[in-house]
Amino acid sequence: GGGAAAPSASLNFNSIAGSKIDAVSVPEGYTAQVLAPWGQPINAMAEAWKDDGTNDAVDQNNSMGMHHDGLHFFPLNDAGTDGLLAVNHEYIDQNALHQNGSDRDDAGIRSSVDQVRKEIAAHGVSVIRIQLQEDGQWMMVESDPLNRRYTGATVMDISGPLANSSLLVTPFSPDGSQARGTLNNCGNGYTPWGTYLTCEENWPGYFINLGTTTAEQDRIGLDTSGTARYGWETLAGHADERVDEFSRFNVTPSGASAMDDYRNEANGHGYIVEIDPYTANSRAVKRTALGRFRHEGCTFGTLEVGKPIVFYSGHDSRFEYMYKFVSTAVWDAADAEASDRLAMGDKYMDEGTLYVAKFDADGVGHWLPLTLDGATTDGGTLGDHFDSLAAIILNTAGAADLVGATQMDRPEWCAVDPITGSVYLTLTNNTRRDETTGTNPANPRLNNKFGHVIRWDEGEAATDFTWDIFVFGSPADGDEATNLSGLSEFNQFASPDGLAFDNRGILWIQTDNGADEVTSYTNDQMLAVVPSAIKDADGNADTINSENQGELRRFFVGPNGCEVTGFTISPDYTTMFVSIQHPGNWPYSNNAAEETPVGMDLRPRASVVAIRKADGGELGV
Ligand code: FEO
Ligand code: CA
Ligand code: CA
Ligand code: CA
Repeated sequence: GGGAAAPSASLNFNSIAGSKIDAVSVPEGYTAQVLAPWGQPINAMAEAWKDDGTNDAVDQNNSMGMHHDGLHFFPLNDAGTDGLLAVNHEYIDQNALHQNGSDRDDAGIRSSVDQVRKEIAAHGVSVIRIQLQEDGQWMMVESDPLNRRYTGATVMDISGPLANSSLLVTPFSPDGSQARGTLNNCGNGYTPWGTYLTCEENWPGYFINLGTTTAEQDRIGLDTSGTARYGWETLAGHADERVDEFSRFNVTPSGASAMDDYRNEANGHGYIVEIDPYTANSRAVKRTALGRFRHEGCTFGTLEVGKPIVFYSGHDSRFEYMYKFVSTAVWDAADAEASDRLAMGDKYMDEGTLYVAKFDADGVGHWLPLTLDGATTDGGTLGDHFDSLAAIILNTAGAADLVGATQMDRPEWCAVDPITGSVYLTLTNNTRRDETTGTNPANPRLNNKFGHVIRWDEGEAATDFTWDIFVFGSPADGDEATNLSGLSEFNQFASPDGLAFDNRGILWIQTDNGADEVTSYTNDQMLAVVPSAIKDADGNADTINSENQGELRRFFVGPNGCEVTGFTISPDYTTMFVSIQHPGNWPYSNNAAEETPVGMDLRPRASVVAIRKADGGELGV
């Protein structure tokens, strides 16, 4: 790693027990507050959230979306008590969203225009102004001029290699310069110049092609029969349909050209999307140079003046790949203060080289360029298979197949250690890795139910790195072949997903659990560890093992049914914000730690949780 040596933080809380209740758990002396749950109005256009599901599409378009995920805090004052919170809304729970669930019939056909509009509006991103009150509680400033929603229908600009490409031509955007909506916004990132990055993950499921598919659609896995995930396209041609409002989700070629149908509509999805939270009414920009796949997150590497900026992004699907983008422009620290932030995105995110990772044995790795002259494993180049960089980007995963990238166990979030510069990546699980698929050194477990966290250090050349596995998920009572990191009751986990470093060098690991061996003990959780403080006898960075596993501590447990995801912390480290996604029956009150009375069924609401110390001090230390 290239980071300058700096003192690491020391954790100063006791690992908490696992829990399985309708409330969050935090260490003694800490508090947790519900903030900005699904359905809370962000402006006066929406009626207050109703607990019977009767809010309409207009309300939803002007309220917090559903299924909160990645998020980031952008301060508006030096004290960090006033700021903007950008929050992703990944997908929806139709049973919670609508009064009596979805109107889908047995064939998957929808009938209610308002229901589908409400679903589209519940996706995307919210930007809201929040302020810390004297009583230590955060409040949304309702109707602040900076509050806004970006939804599955919001018009966005396309930039980078696919901008103005024939591949992006639709009747809505004849010059291929725009796309409508962002969908399945999972993990997030942010930039050194103060913008938010939202990542389009499982977007293929929203589209359907019932006719001739392209090689790229076959590779990414677009649906080809029945209806798409929520069946929005089944309202095509409805009397109340606005211009191709629902038709566009059906990408079946039906006319003579791309101007006659929506064959290219899905090509406007699958990107990293940049939002300037500080500028009201600013348009979001899809940065196509960073690749097109199921983006989990987007994290920039260690900044060095005069050097390119690196962005990391994983493709979360079984046997998919890990990518990095290296900018052509080199970092100028003055750009952190630029007033036209999206122009900085143009500068650093539209031109550069996209690479995919190959993890070799013995801890060596290589970044393989996805360019026209990038070498393929058959001795040729990607130029033998693609006629433009835009075509490579459109089918990023197909290009990565050709260069021989390493098939991973579902790359989720990535985080960069501010002390050492090492890059950490969660590999959440892969139960389909079997004798037929085989293992590889970076994904060494068959039937990887519990996942692992891998890390690497970049080499001198942009193409070289060295790697090792930091920790393996496992139940505490796993056998020797399973509990490879010697985890105990106090830190057993499975399915690592959300991952973030704060600037003190604390790594926060969140889980999205699917393994009964651990869920029988605890709900999804967040653990903390300071990797830079964990050294072996020779003073080198160590991995988690039975000797040092006590350094990995459970800090937070979510309510029943949820996933804990998304992380951001105030500049003075006194408030941490995380998302609770798809809770089963929560929250009962605005105190996130107050348990729902047994037997009471509620319409669950995904929410941000603001975690603080009761005395207002720094978290974790
Ligand atoms: Fe939306 Fe890969 O988590
Ligand atoms: Ca995730
Ligand atoms: Ca996950
Ligand atoms: Ca999720």
